[in-house]
Amino acid sequence: MLKSIIEEKLQAQIKKEASSSQLYLSMASWADMKGFSGAAEFLYHHSDEEREHMLKLIRFVNERGGHAEIPALSSPQKDFDSFQSVFKSILDHERKVTESINDIITACLKENDHSTNNFMQWYISEQMEEEQLANSILDKLKMIGDNMPSLYLFDKELSELTKNAHQA
Ligand code: FEO
Repeated sequence: MLKSIIEEKLQAQIKKEASSSQLYLSMASWADMKGFSGAAEFLYHHSDEEREHMLKLIRFVNERGGHAEIPALSSPQKDFDSFQSVFKSILDHERKVTESINDIITACLKENDHSTNNFMQWYISEQMEEEQLANSILDKLKMIGDNMPSLYLFDKELSELTKNAHQA
């Protein structure tokens, strides 16, 4: 049985994962509208992954005797200045998500909740991968700047990356 303090934190995390999915979906739509199909595919896929993160939490809360609520969300940002600003936002966002996952783990240790702690370890590894990926893409974008031919190649690269992620 989940302690209420842990259930509340998991509930808040469900909302964060749902918001991440919506934000990345909005970024995907923006990239799609701009004609960058590779970046759009990458971001659509990223949005799907965040939805999976949310679903995993919903199932866990219910399996442990809680009742996961489906949160209301406000509209995500619609327009973006550049791909650099998109990936900077992703990195900032993911860093905040990592902080909140660390906070859940700290609470689990305090409350002696080893099963939730164990469950949340998967999120720790996932966050490390996501931050690393966003960081490396952002580094590349800083080098590219506004150079259109390079942005075109970058778009193709993101398309390949997404295809490989689907095959993995
Ligand atoms: Fe599920 Fe990217 O945080």
